[in-house]
Amino acid sequence: MTQHTQAGTRPRLLLIGANGQVGWELRRTLACLGDVVAASLEGEYGPAIDLMDAGALARLIQDSRPDAVINAAAYTAVDKAESDQATARRINAEAVGEMGALLAKTGTPIIHYSTDFVFSGNLGRLYTEADTPDPLNVYGETKLGGERALLDSGAKALIFRTSWVYGARGANFLLTMRRLFAERDELRIVDDQIGSPTWSRMLAEATALVLHRVLRGELDLEQVGGLYHLTGAGQVSWHGFASAILEASGLETRLIPIPSSEYQAPAKRPMFSVLDNRRFQETFGLAMPDWRLSLAQCLEELK
Ligand SMILES: NC(=O)c1ccc[n+]([C@@H]2O[C@H](COP(=O)([O-])OP(=O)(O)OC[C@H]3O[C@@H](n4cnc5c(N)ncnc54)[C@H](OP(=O)(O)O)[C@@H]3O)[C@@H](O)[C@H]2O)c1
Repeated sequence: MTQHTQAGTRPRLLLIGANGQVGWELRRTLACLGDVVAASLEGEYGPAIDLMDAGALARLIQDSRPDAVINAAAYTAVDKAESDQATARRINAEAVGEMGALLAKTGTPIIHYSTDFVFSGNLGRLYTEADTPDPLNVYGETKLGGERALLDSGAKALIFRTSWVYGARGANFLLTMRRLFAERDELRIVDDQIGSPTWSRMLAEATALVLHRVLRGELDLEQVGGLYHLTGAGQVSWHGFASAILEASGLETRLIPIPSSEYQAPAKRPMFSVLDNRRFQETFGLAMPDWRLSLAQCLEELK
């Protein structure tokens, strides 16, 4: 790979999924690393790309000639995926394998995201990258398919498994809670699923810090490529997360803790899917902040 350390040689970074929670943050965070080609389904900020269309992906990569690819696109509708398997599989698994195959030919590095939902949550301790995935739902299965297809493609790849992503825009728990607090006096929130909330901004910043070193040739993905867990530090239940959001809102909605068995949803969710971030910390020398700090900072922006 070319090393872009000379003045005047800005790398071309192909961002796929630029209109998602993480993609939207990445479009800004990556801007100081190079020229970002921000591709999204509707083409709001650059080329339009529909990952359902295999030919479109090859054309996008050929036209943009990227020095690195960051794939933040995914089929993330966890419940809908149960009845729409083919679409979820195409976007989360097949298209990711195709990206890998195309990029392996040119040795172009790719950063991709996966999920804590590759695990059942039955292990009873923090999950490491060495633990065997055992997804409970279609979304988790298809994301696992994407991880495997990318790793098998021979591309120089980093896969960051994250969890409970929220931010100032997009469809997420934080924004849903803020809307519901304003509308309802009482909310019933699941209290027996434990995970790690992750601010989309922090994920984008950690990604940029790692990618910077890859582009400078300081990190060789033949050596350090593969899977990493990357989430906000700490853990909490959905009810605990909602309580922290409520506290900052100044509203007085009553939050009633309920077990998962009382929350009917098409897709099963893991009960304890906290990921151990140590491999990421030790390899890249970066530590994600505690989820409470990130939540407070994100809320400052929403004020
Ligand atoms: N959200 C979470 O809680 C969570 C948890 C763990 C892991 N992750 C992973 O983190 C990554 C980023 O997630 P996110 O929260 O930023 O997701 P998101 O907000 O749902 O964004 C995903 C983006 O993918 C786009 N997309 C969907 N179908 C597409 C298609 N056929 N062609 C091209 N683009 C398509 C969506 O476009 P439209 O907006 O136009 O539909 C959306 O902009 C994903 O890999 C996800 O699996 C997310």
